Amino acid sequence: MTNAYQQAYDKSLKDPSAFWGEAASAVHWYKTWDKVLDDSNKPFYRWFVGAETNTCYNAVDRHVKDGRGKQAAIIYDSPVSNTSRTISYDELLDQVSRLAGAMAALGVAKGDRVLLYMPMIPEAVIGMLATARLGAIHSVVFGGFAPSELAVRINDAKPKVILSASCGIEGSKVLAYKPMLDEAINLSDFKPSHTIMAQRPQAKAELIAGRDLDWAEACAGAKPADCVPVKATDPLYILYTSGTTGAPKGVVRDNGGHMVALLWSMKYVYNIKPGEVFWAASDVGWVVGHSYICYGPLLNGSTTVVYEGKPVGTPDAGAFWRMISQYKIASLFTAPTAFRAIKREDPNAELLKKYDMSCMRALFLAGERSDPDTINWAVSNLKVPVVDHWWQTETGWAIAANCLGLHEFPIKPGSPTKPVPGWGLEVLDEGHQPCEAGKVGSLVVRLPLPPGALLTLWNADQRCIDSYYSEFPGCYKTADAGMIDEDGYAYVMSRTDDIINVAGHRLSTGGMEEVLASHPDVAECAVIGVADQLKGQLPLGFICLKAGVTKTDDQVIAEVVKLVREKIGPVAAFKTCTVVKRLPKTRSGKILRGTMQKIADNQDFKMPATIDDPAILEEIEESLEGVGYAKARKESAE
Ligand code: COA
Ligand code: AMP
Repeated sequence: MTNAYQQAYDKSLKDPSAFWGEAASAVHWYKTWDKVLDDSNKPFYRWFVGAETNTCYNAVDRHVKDGRGKQAAIIYDSPVSNTSRTISYDELLDQVSRLAGAMAALGVAKGDRVLLYMPMIPEAVIGMLATARLGAIHSVVFGGFAPSELAVRINDAKPKVILSASCGIEGSKVLAYKPMLDEAINLSDFKPSHTIMAQRPQAKAELIAGRDLDWAEACAGAKPADCVPVKATDPLYILYTSGTTGAPKGVVRDNGGHMVALLWSMKYVYNIKPGEVFWAASDVGWVVGHSYICYGPLLNGSTTVVYEGKPVGTPDAGAFWRMISQYKIASLFTAPTAFRAIKREDPNAELLKKYDMSCMRALFLAGERSDPDTINWAVSNLKVPVVDHWWQTETGWAIAANCLGLHEFPIKPGSPTKPVPGWGLEVLDEGHQPCEAGKVGSLVVRLPLPPGALLTLWNADQRCIDSYYSEFPGCYKTADAGMIDEDGYAYVMSRTDDIINVAGHRLSTGGMEEVLASHPDVAECAVIGVADQLKGQLPLGFICLKAGVTKTDDQVIAEVVKLVREKIGPVAAFKTCTVVKRLPKTRSGKILRGTMQKIADNQDFKMPATIDDPAILEEIEESLEGVGYAKARKESAE
């Protein structure tokens, strides 16, 4: 007999309309759909065409009506500011509808954009929900991005209003957000008409009269706004993510399909019931924060957690265990890098012994490849299923996972288990033919993508087609390479483009190269991702200096490191760079980044047949040794 997973998977691919039409009964609709799946404008499929709904109503009002008003909706815990508070669904409804009222009074209406630049405080989630309440479109920008990156997003999204806070707190550092926001608004051509600022006691913001409003005052005086019905296919949010160039891609998500997918996933992927506490230890600025700090748990009538702290150092490597036992958290979702950080500080998990962890049922990991060591450490110490699952900003939820609500498969460390129902995952070779089991190729998803995946890229339909749909006709290109083994387990090995993953944060090496190239002393440059024991990958730069530069190499390196921090932000974690005479290239002039990365990581590599001058690789190796890479390779060769 086939298990529940297999039945669901087969049905979802055989008859997607029947499968998702059934799942859609979990959502409240003002008007149901004319058609579950509209395929009249391929590759832009649309779900639940003709239906009307409101995401905020489903995440908040509905639970109050159903008697969950007194239940905790959000638990906020901030070891960095020594505060914690719980917000019930009743209180959430009040705060969200007041903020929506304040924004409506500023002219925000259906289809308008609202940008959020927020630290991990409940106001971030409240801001997202209030925007959705008005049928407007939010765009959350991660706090670790610099003003110029924020400006690029302001220019592209053209938000009427920006929601922000006076400061964020990173460990022991208080980072004033307002000066960064002011600088970004100055830099951008488009100007929002207003900002609404949450004032925090750690650093008050100077408000510009007429433009900046105090959050608390604006909400206190506001008339609560009602939910505005929107089409299921109307955009709920734009989330910018790294592409292969410096111009970020604005991934657009809809209202209806998104809710159907997330509700389905809460039950069948995460096995979380209404009333239970689910904690995604990420940041609202990333897709994990959108799907599983804000929307998934709240749509499900569960309790979500907004944690303003780190896995280690706030105050120690027991921070996650303290949270789980204190708030009776049923499942934790985080990036493997957080567990590597904990394991490094407390290898024998001594701190775990201080806490009652009996409430914890599962650990979910995503954002980067989970190394078997980390998985094994988590399994042996936590003694709960550890689910590695694979997804992307574009997909909005998991492509491959161990769906605990359907069937728990044995774990194979290194694999995010099986494709999730809805995702027709295939591995194709260079000739676009299916690879046999166990052979590595391009991971693609046969169209249509299930509900919840990207609608398009904001104002860039053609870029969307070029990026995802043109290389493998009839498929979505994940830009990940991997394989499916003979048991149907998926493996995700690496990106096929220039995206790297630093501490679970997705970054573009192309974007960093654009910054290095803008330095007046740099003639040519390359950035690669090198393996790092804690963060998974780190960026490493190579620069060739222009003739006649009189500064020392170290001076230029210090300047370009500073420039990347200024232009992209601290999140880029760009700290290592080396000066080289020339870069290895093919005869047609393409920089051999893949070969450089293999040399840096001490991996075997084949001399590229098209290399112009093989001697340059020796020079690269030498300079890599100077910054602590490639050494072991030489030693093992001796
Ligand atoms: N606002 C401003 N700055 C931020 C920031 C934010 N929201 N988030 C990170 N930064 C800064 C950090 O302070 C750091 O600055 P520094 O160079 O001055 O030290 C820099 O950006 C790099 O951050 P990060 O790569 O996260 O390194 P870290 O040393 O601060 O923390 C970990 C390392 C592993 C503890 C942390 O990345 C982590 O907990 N990651 C797992 C969870 C997660 O966020 N996953 C995301 C997707 S699921
Ligand atoms: P992001 O869009 O920031 O979520 O990053 C998506 C990318 O992170 C994917 O394309 C993968 O390269 C990587 N990724 C995410 N989850 C996993 C996982 N479980 N295993 C391997 N790689 C992953």
